[in-house]
Order: sequence, then C-alpha cells, then structure tokens
Amino acid sequence: MDERTVEANIRLYDSHAPLTGTSAQQMRARESGGAYPLKKYHNLVKLRLLKEFAQDCDALLDLCCGRGGDIHKWINCNVGKVLGVDISTMEIMEAKRRYEEAVQKRPGARLKAKFNLVDCLGTKDLDFGEKFDVVTCMFAIHYFFVSEAAIKQFFRNVAAATKPGGHFVATFPSGKKVLQTLNQREEYRQPMLFLRKGWEGRDPSKPFGQAFECAISDTVTRAETGSKDGEFVGSREYLVFFNVIKALAREVGLELVTTYRSAELSCLFQDEDANSGFKHFKPPGSFDEAHESLRRASELYVATVFRMGEQAGNAGKRPRGGGPEADGGAKKPRNGGSEGEGKGT
Ligand SMILES: C[S@@+](CC[C@H](N)C(=O)[O-])C[C@H]1O[C@@H](n2cnc3c(N)ncnc32)[C@H](O)[C@@H]1O
Repeated sequence: MDERTVEANIRLYDSHAPLTGTSAQQMRARESGGAYPLKKYHNLVKLRLLKEFAQDCDALLDLCCGRGGDIHKWINCNVGKVLGVDISTMEIMEAKRRYEEAVQKRPGARLKAKFNLVDCLGTKDLDFGEKFDVVTCMFAIHYFFVSEAAIKQFFRNVAAATKPGGHFVATFPSGKKVLQTLNQREEYRQPMLFLRKGWEGRDPSKPFGQAFECAISDTVTRAETGSKDGEFVGSREYLVFFNVIKALAREVGLELVTTYRSAELSCLFQDEDANSGFKHFKPPGSFDEAHESLRRASELYVATVFRMGEQAGNAGKRPRGGGPEADGGAKKPRNGGSEGEGKGT
C-alpha cells in the first residue's frame, strides 16, 4: 500500500485520539460539538447493522477499528470475542483504555476484546489465527482504494478471515455521491463539509487511486482546516464505485446482500435502495435546517454487506508456507507507547 497514504492516516488519526478524560467526559465534549447529530446517526447505523448481522455471534474481526467507538455496541449485541486492528498507535491505545473501562462498568458482559496495531491490511497476506462469523470495516475501506493491489489484498484478507456463511459489513463514502457533490468543481466548501478533488482534469480517469480530500467539522477530519496551499490536511480518501467493489468482493467469494430483515435497520437508508446492496444513508429530518451541510456530509455514505458463500471459504485461502502471522500481523507500537495486552493508558 502506498506509503504516503499510510503515513498520512497515521498522522491524522494519531493526532486526534482523545487521550485525556474518562469516556463520560469525552461523551460530554462530543455532545456539545457541531457534528454530534451526524455522529449519533452514524453510530445508530452501525449499531443496527451489528444487531442484524452480529447479534450473539462468537467472533468478530473489526478492521480499522479506530479508538473502539463500537465497544458498547458489541456488548449490546452480546458478541463473544472481538479482534480490532488499526494502523494508529494512539487509536489502539485509546481502544484498549475504553475496553477496560467498559468491562469494569458492565462486568456481566460476554465480550472479550483485543486490539492490535497493524499496517499491512492492504499490503500482505494476514492470518488472524482463526475465522470470524463477522468481519467489519466501518468508515475506512475507501482508504484501500489507493490502488488496485491494495484493495485486492484487503479483500483477500477479508475472505481468509470470514467463515463460510459469515458476513462482511462495511460503510464508506460513495464515489458517485462525492462526484455529484463536487459537481465538476475543484472543491466544495460549506460550513461543515469540505471536499476537494485530487485528480487532474474534469473526471476521474481510473477506478483506483482517485484521491479526494474530505473534512467534516468537529470530527477527526475537520472542515474548517480543509486544504491549505493545495496540501491535503483533511482526510486523504479515494473514490469507491459500487460495480468495482462488488466485482472485487465476488472474486474472493463474497456475495452482496441486498435486503435486510429488520425494518429498524432498513428505515435508516434511502427508500429507493430497498433492494440494492448499497444503501445510502438517510439522515433524520432533525438535522435538515440547522445542519444542511452536515446532512450533505452524511448523505455521502453507504452501508454494504456481503455474505461469504458456504463453499467459497477457500477463495481467500493461501498456499501453505505463505508467511502466516497468527497475531494478524500485529506490530510493535510506534512512539514507544505501552501496548500491554488489554491495558489502558
Ligand atoms: C474514520 S476512522 C473509523 C474508525 C472506526 N471504524 C469507526 O467506525 O469509528 C478510520 C480508521 O481507519 C484507520 N486506518 C486507515 N488506514 C488504515 C490502514 N491502512 N490499516 C489499518 N487501519 C487504517 C485509521 O487509523 C482510523 O482509525
């Protein structure tokens, strides 16, 4: 995977992990932030996706887990075991801290979680030591569209980690929506959303590596600081097109799920997507007027779910001797941070 993208993400996410205050203090700060309605709705989408696809499951792998924002959702869904992996040392440290705090508060919870630092999800074959009922990648798969090689490697790792009949659940910004919002302009600048194209010419010419800058106020990507002197200072992201992701998933045995059983989940998405495998977010009317640009930001996103075929579990299988790493490629922390198993910081 290209080093510029990896380094940019490490810098961005390391610099934003909140390493002070308890979760309750952090929650109060979040609630007073301008993007709170968006965060609340996006968290609800994740919770209901997990309720539908991960309720009571034994093992879940969360790729690009961030600071453990989904720990309480896993507990609420009675998930048994979670392995979370991410590229950011600081996010992993914060995830460990939050996990310790969560299990102290909810001692009856079934959840046993581990968080590992990895930087090679899109670079090499990983062996997580077991297969999972559910694999998730929330708000992060678009980073792997930096190149065809990176996203193909990412999908091979997803396939190798997913049990036959298991699910892969992802949320990401739709490339088409980003293009529609930019509407042929160099950039789109609104109070809470900043987008800027990174490709030359009018239209993106390729299905991979088409970078854009995305910044949403009061989130890890902040609109008010978006783009200085042509440098990306928001998040460097890549366009994702539905036909491309669907074809890549199919290559490794993952089939698109088009309908969800739960009405509570389906009602969070646009009605016209009822039978589509890519469901556009439908932010609640409550943030229409005061937060027009926040609504625009939320509407960039889609949820998608794939199911691993019963026979297709072998699609992601690697030849023996291919350098398996039973810890999922876990690496030593940068910055000498304490990474003791399950220890908070
Ligand atoms: C927008 S955050 C989403 C975090 C979490 N999934 C959530 O829903 O709250 C994106 C995460 O992807 C991680 N990330 C970006 N590129 C990555 C890579 N190549 N390998 C692993 N993690 C990566 C970042 O460090 C960050 O924590």
